[in-house]
Amino acid sequence: MPQKPIAPLLVLIGFMGAGKSTVGRFLAHELGCPLMDLDIDITHTHGGIPDLFEKRGESGFRAIEHHHLGSILPRLPRPSVLALGGGAFMQAANRELLAKHAATVIFLDAPFEVVRARIADTGHQRPLVRDLERLRKLFEQRRPTYLMAEHTFDASESDPAGLLTSLVQLAERLGVVTTARDRL
Ligand code: S3P
Repeated sequence: MPQKPIAPLLVLIGFMGAGKSTVGRFLAHELGCPLMDLDIDITHTHGGIPDLFEKRGESGFRAIEHHHLGSILPRLPRPSVLALGGGAFMQAANRELLAKHAATVIFLDAPFEVVRARIADTGHQRPLVRDLERLRKLFEQRRPTYLMAEHTFDASESDPAGLLTSLVQLAERLGVVTTARDRL
């Protein structure tokens, strides 16, 4: 018997300030499906991320992040949207987990100056944001790995409407059924 295609798990990756959480929220709303924000879920179980970095160091945080990702992936309904923290896709073990669960990985790409301005605008405490030059270096180091994602979308506009339309179209191509209505 022909197998029914499984609805996708849309995973948003990208640097801090790329808009993963915000775009993820809008996208899930548009698609009428659940959103899982990995960092928020980690916070519910383990407490705030700045505290985790302080108590366990970055490597301790990465271990929790990997373990948490591994435990939620098999339980996420399909379709759903999953927003990852900016460093999660850097870990090969996390990329393997995503591949094992047939996730559709989407890189939200924005230039350094754009993410830097957004990072400065949000009141979020981000332990890896210390000085500008280190942040720029991290951005440059990470971008080639983000580009390994199956899909890359320009996330530089401050109004996410156009990006959302493109993401909804991708979701529809991947088999998510949406009701036709005016977009944002
Ligand atoms: C991190 C990004 C953060 C958070 C943690 C580490 C990173 O998430 O996971 O502070 O390594 O880039 P956002 O990308 O949502 O800011």
